[in-house]
Amino acid sequence: MSARKVFVRTHGCQMNDYDSGKIIDILAASHGMTPADSPEEADVLLLNTCSVRDKAQQKVFSELGRWKALKRSKPGVVIGVGGCVASQEGSAIRERAPCVDIVFGPQTIQRLPEMLDSVARSRKPVVDIRFPEMEKFDRLPEARADGAAAFVSIMEGCGKYCTFCVVPYTRGEEVSRPLPGVLGEVAALAAQGVREVTLLGQNVNGYRWRDGADGADFATLLYHVAAVPGIDRIRYTTSHPVEFSDALIEAHAAIPQLAGHLHLPVQSGSDRILALMKRGYTAPEYKSIVRKLRKARPNLSLSSDFIVGFPGESDDDFERTMALIEEVNYDQSFSFLYSRRPGTPAAALPDDTPQAVKKRRLARLQRRVTEMAAAISGAMVGAVERVLVCGPAKKTPGQVCGRTDNNRVVNFDGGPEWTGRWAEVEITRALPNSLQGRLVSR
Ligand code: SAM
Ligand code: F3S
Repeated sequence: MSARKVFVRTHGCQMNDYDSGKIIDILAASHGMTPADSPEEADVLLLNTCSVRDKAQQKVFSELGRWKALKRSKPGVVIGVGGCVASQEGSAIRERAPCVDIVFGPQTIQRLPEMLDSVARSRKPVVDIRFPEMEKFDRLPEARADGAAAFVSIMEGCGKYCTFCVVPYTRGEEVSRPLPGVLGEVAALAAQGVREVTLLGQNVNGYRWRDGADGADFATLLYHVAAVPGIDRIRYTTSHPVEFSDALIEAHAAIPQLAGHLHLPVQSGSDRILALMKRGYTAPEYKSIVRKLRKARPNLSLSSDFIVGFPGESDDDFERTMALIEEVNYDQSFSFLYSRRPGTPAAALPDDTPQAVKKRRLARLQRRVTEMAAAISGAMVGAVERVLVCGPAKKTPGQVCGRTDNNRVVNFDGGPEWTGRWAEVEITRALPNSLQGRLVSR
């Protein structure tokens, strides 16, 4: 295989970001490939796709259209499609886009070296979108740190089957990664200077690992990760309100490294809609978890996913979502219009709310959460925050940027030597998407 440069375009969630990073590492180890800065200079073009919403799925074929033109001018180029669209469509992708040589799934990224060799040998397309349980993690090269913060995947798939969601079909059933592998990856990253890890999974608090007499649930896993020398801050995403155990809530009081910010998707504040979504909890149950969490960790900042315009959502249902938002006081929302996903149970539900009404609801929800976030940012002015410096600030030369405990970006005067270090920063100004600060001490 003579290819030298690989370009990976990633759509979708942090799980896909994590997988794309691993793909680069895998192909560096197997074929000595280096990442290309643009599709034009690459020998292998990979698209890691998302199918959670229709829009994300549409993007795949427009991108492949552009890559097809590239391949025409450089015939040796290999094109691969992975992720959730690949998993869902399988070889049907090639019917719409015959330029595709490789179709791989979220759990077959480790097989890319063999797939590339096979294409090079036979010039025939390969499709492998199976869910070989945990083979993926067994075959990953040693973790490579890229900065002071890193993601570590602790599980694959999802077994919750919310009625609107394709993920259980595209990523398979929930499987937990063995604890020794997770801790090995965290320790390897810490040894390379990583100070903050984000544990990843669709449903991390469903984590369960057992091997003979050994075993761990998610709360236990957190204590183990906190004990890894060098790990000063731990985040996790996504957790689910179901299985949010008292032991996990208690961990937020007992583990100082756990960040003071939590992403806990609620989707809706209406019990009727939550039942139609098959989320497995009611709004009062969700609020009870939040109350207990804030008792364990006062000032815990919360973000959430919301779906607006689920089939049959009435004005009253939507008002219940707005009322829940007022009670919880969110710091950020990832909110979307419901997108009908063929093959999911919700796709069959009658949906007669006009799109314009749904859009108005979404805009109102987003406006309100933005106001809440601005008030929280404003209240931080004058406070001294412990910040992990991630590198030079995006816009202002001479400044560096870091992240606060509640996951806000802070920019402040400082040189590149601060990268990867902790800094005490006084917040001087709150802007809509970031904070300005002043270095107080190291
Ligand atoms: N595991 C997470 C949880 O417990 O909610 C969510 C993972 S899902 C990939 C990310 C988010 O996408 C969901 O929380 C939901 O808000 C959104 N989402 C999923 N399916 C959707 C759909 N059909 N239409 C709109 N948004 C959707
Ligand atoms: Fe999707 Fe629900 Fe799982 S939103 S990823 S089916 S928890």
